[in-house]
Order: sequence, then structure tokens, then C-alpha cells
Amino acid sequence: MKKAPVFHDTTLRDGNQSLAKPWNLEEKLEVFGLLCGLGVEKIEAGFPSASAMDFETCRTIAEVADGNITVGALTRAVEKDIKTTYESIAHAATPRIHIVLALSPFTMEHVLKIHPQKVKQLAAESVAYARSLIKNRGEVQFTAEHFGDCMENLDFVTETFLACTDAGADIINMPNTVERYRPYLFTDMVEKVVSALPEHIVASVHCHNDLGMATATSVESYFAGAVQIETCLNGIGERAGNANLFEIAAVLNNCGVDTGLNIKLFVQTAKRIAELSETPIHQKAPLFGEEVVMHRSGIHQDGAAKTKHMTKGAYRPMDFSAIGRTENDRMGFTSQSGRSALAEILANEGITLSGQQASALIRICKKASETEGELSTGRILELFAKVQ
Ligand code: KIV
Ligand code: ZN
Repeated sequence: MKKAPVFHDTTLRDGNQSLAKPWNLEEKLEVFGLLCGLGVEKIEAGFPSASAMDFETCRTIAEVADGNITVGALTRAVEKDIKTTYESIAHAATPRIHIVLALSPFTMEHVLKIHPQKVKQLAAESVAYARSLIKNRGEVQFTAEHFGDCMENLDFVTETFLACTDAGADIINMPNTVERYRPYLFTDMVEKVVSALPEHIVASVHCHNDLGMATATSVESYFAGAVQIETCLNGIGERAGNANLFEIAAVLNNCGVDTGLNIKLFVQTAKRIAELSETPIHQKAPLFGEEVVMHRSGIHQDGAAKTKHMTKGAYRPMDFSAIGRTENDRMGFTSQSGRSALAEILANEGITLSGQQASALIRICKKASETEGELSTGRILELFAKVQ
């Protein structure tokens, strides 16, 4: 049986580190509260050795977190950083030390400048040290940075993962640190690693969205065997962002997978995150964009009108009311539009069009729209007055 997905949210760390103005304690506590409200139970609070403010916020979040929340913090594979990280989250009911170390050939050679065998040793030693601090009252996660670039040394990466699980890691995280290639190439690697890991180890993915495929890659990674999915709210994060929790949950929900999340709160949470991150929601953004309920072409308007009271609409991915959106379908009238739009727009004004009125009105509305673009309801009413 497929295991239920576990969301490990990194908005407070990967999201926060990409902001022009990283959040202060008060803002981080608000985002933490939003995550808890959504039902997310694994939350990465920050990167304590990055700044005194991040250390302080991790410490406070660990203190206020309810007993069901795992509070994580990221660290480099450096002993003093691991210690600082542990100290920042030690008060949580379940603290998680998250160690990151690059394992791709390119990064080991050009950035770390350390021989792979030494990197492997460092990975295992760092995990063992974290385990010695956290003992049995918390978790240790190991991340192979740039996993998505590890096609050619996957055997070495797998051996390193096994050295880490032997040393006490509970979670093995495979990030697409920079999204460069096909989702399938990534999920194929995930599948290979999962089959090599001991049964009790949690396999995790963390996908960035550089080429716009992070949601797809995360979802397919889950079906390839990863259980933990790392996300950010609204898909904020480094460069083009991280995998978007809302989108992934919506797909899984559509596929009948219980995410355990409170999806009714998605819209209000997304709006608040847009404000807090000063990253407005794009009008075409899946699920939340202003435009994604809009139908302007005649064929789509006809399908939308005929299925508007159904859970599955002809031209919408889901019943948006399930995520707290007040509107499922909206009609806009342009030269591309059809009768259904006019009927719908005028019905909203309490007007029922006769067949004759509709034929006359559509002609003049299309003509007007050729030069005026989308017609407002007021303009349609004005033109309607001429055909009565
Ligand atoms: O993108 C990345 O590789 C990361 C890791 C620390 C998980 O953010
Ligand atoms: Zn990342």
C-alpha cells in the first residue's frame, strides 16, 4: 500500500532565505501559525547559523510549537554549525537536524573542492555527530545537494546515503537543487535510490522550479516512492522558487490521495503569504490567479455554462470552492466569445435573453469588441438597450 505523503515545508527557510527582506520573528511566527493551520506537521524553521535573527526565530518556534509538530533547522556539514543548529531547536517535542552536503560531481570538484571519498566520510561523520546530540528524541535528515545532477555518480550517491543511514539518518532527501532536465530522469533516480534504502528510512524530494516543472517532478517523485515532499507556500524560494505546496496538494487530492491538509484554507493562506513575502500572485498562477476562473472563448464558455453546477467543470481543474475560492467560472465577453457568455452575464443582471435578442446582441457585441476589447457588463447593457 502506498504510504500517505508527508509535507515537510521549507517556507520559513528556503522561502525566507530568498526574500529581499527576510522575515523577522513576528512574521515568521505568523507564517508558522499559517502552516500549522493548514495541518503541516513537519516544518523547517530556518538556518540558525545564517544569522542571529534566524537562530532566535528557530529557538522561539521550537518553544511555541505544539507536541505534534516536528521543528527542523538546516545546517552545513560542519560540527560547530550542527551544534548551533541543535541548540536552536532542542526544546521542540521533535527536533530535526537537517544536514546538507553537495554530492554532484560538478559541485564536489568546483565548489567544495573535496575528493568524493572525503565527502562521503564527512557526510557520515556529520550525521553521526547530529545523532549523538539529538539522541532518540529527534530526527536527522541528510540532503545530497544537487541530487538532480547526480546521474553519472548515482552509485556513489547511493553508497553515501547508506553510510548516512548507518550513521543514524532517518530521512534521506533528494533535491533538484537547480531544475535542468526532464522530470522522468529525476524520478528514475529517486526510484533507484528508494529501492536501495532500508524500509524504515523516509525518502524525500525537494524540487526547485527553474524550468517550471517542480510540481510535476514532486508529484511524480511521490508516485516513484518518495514519501516526504518538501515545499514552500505559494512556491516562493530561491530563483524561480520551490515546489508549491498548494499545487502539489491539489494534484494529489484530485488523484484521490489524502494529503491530510486543511485545503479549505488554501486561498486565504496564499493571499496572506503573498502579502508577507511581497510576492504578488500572478494573474495566471494555478489555483489562485485572478484569470484562472475566466472563460473568454465561445467553446469554453458553452462547456463552462453547461457544467457550472457540477463538481467537475468542463474547463476547470477542480472545484475551486474546496480550496476556499468563491468563484468557479467567470465569463468575459470579447470578439472570441459566444452566446453562453452573454446569457450568463445578463442573467447575473436579472435579464433573460430571448433567442432573437441573443442573435442581435451577439452581432453588435462582437463588432464592438473588435475595437474595444473585453466589454464590461455596463457596455453590454448599453448595447442590449439597442436591441430591445
Ligand atoms: O535546494 C536545495 O538543495 C536545498 C537543500 C538544503 C534541501 O534547499
Ligand atoms: Zn532548496
